[in-house]
Amino acid sequence: MGSSQILTEVNLTSLPKLAEGKVRDLYSVDDNTLLFVTTDRISAYDVVMKNGVPHKGELLTLQSVHWFNVLSERVPGLKTHFLTTDVPARVSAEEARLIRNRSMQVRKLKVFPLEAIVRGYVTGSAWKEYKAHGTVHGTRLAPGLRECDAVPGGPIYTPSTKAPLGQHDENISRERAAQIVGDAYAARIEDLALRVFRAGQDYAAERGIIIADTKFEFGLDETTDEVVLVDEVLTSDSSRMWPMDKYEPGRDQESFDKQFLRNWLTENGLKGKEGVEVPEDVLRATGERYAEVFRRLTGKTLEEALQG
Ligand SMILES: Nc1ncnc2c1ncn2[C@@H]1O[C@H](COP(=O)(O)OP(=O)(O)OP(=O)(O)O)[C@@H](O)[C@H]1O
Ligand SMILES: [Mg+2]
Repeated sequence: MGSSQILTEVNLTSLPKLAEGKVRDLYSVDDNTLLFVTTDRISAYDVVMKNGVPHKGELLTLQSVHWFNVLSERVPGLKTHFLTTDVPARVSAEEARLIRNRSMQVRKLKVFPLEAIVRGYVTGSAWKEYKAHGTVHGTRLAPGLRECDAVPGGPIYTPSTKAPLGQHDENISRERAAQIVGDAYAARIEDLALRVFRAGQDYAAERGIIIADTKFEFGLDETTDEVVLVDEVLTSDSSRMWPMDKYEPGRDQESFDKQFLRNWLTENGLKGKEGVEVPEDVLRATGERYAEVFRRLTGKTLEEALQG
């Protein structure tokens, strides 16, 4: 199945590298186009593990591409940064082989410095806050909610800052978000984030999956003034996803995301530590969760998707 090599570093020589995130490397194709390469690196608690998850780059890339197609159909007026999964002609054959199915060309945009977080369920940090104060993101919710209950009244927008590499994101009020990007863009980002989230939830629900929460990023096309959905979309890295048939509020849920890895780190006192070498079985188990949600959402195994 594709290249079975685990790719934690890609250093293309055919194109200039613009930036390196925790998981992705960004290369410049031309003034308006980026090559968005997803490695097999995995981060948890804002630090990158030493070793990677087999096939993760392919799973995240092809799942995001699937979502770009689905969401463009289901969310009226939505614009996305996705252009093509074709590797640019300038990339050498050898390098193209390495990044095929784990890269996409996207529109190069000015990314708004906000994490557009949407929460449909009271879980994770939201549950901690609710338990302590009865609020989520500072807003009071109905009393008596259990861990992992749906947010009464539907998904809510809870923005945070986008911290530079090595720093932690910080929750901010909607007012603060408006100060950072301006009222008009803040309102458009919130509206889009909520509509995309609900469309994603509906699509996933048809396939037995609950999307509990997620993080989106948006960019601005300065030539058209369009607010565009960028980055990865509704993947196991950016979202909490639960199997619907096992859903039971009142406890933590079994999940298709990196919770398994987070739990292992916490149990071993390694939360937030740099350069942790994760045991193969923990990485494999994490990869299996990514692959399973990929299969349920796209209707194909990764192997089938790679065959076209
Ligand atoms: N269309 C785009 N134009 C320019 N930059 C983009 C575009 N889409 C996404 N980006 C940026 O590319 C980077 C993606 O890299 P990556 O996901 O590794 O970053 P990260 O956010 O540091 O890691 P993590 O996702 O683990 O928090 C992000 O900084 C994101 O804001
Ligand atoms: Mg990211």
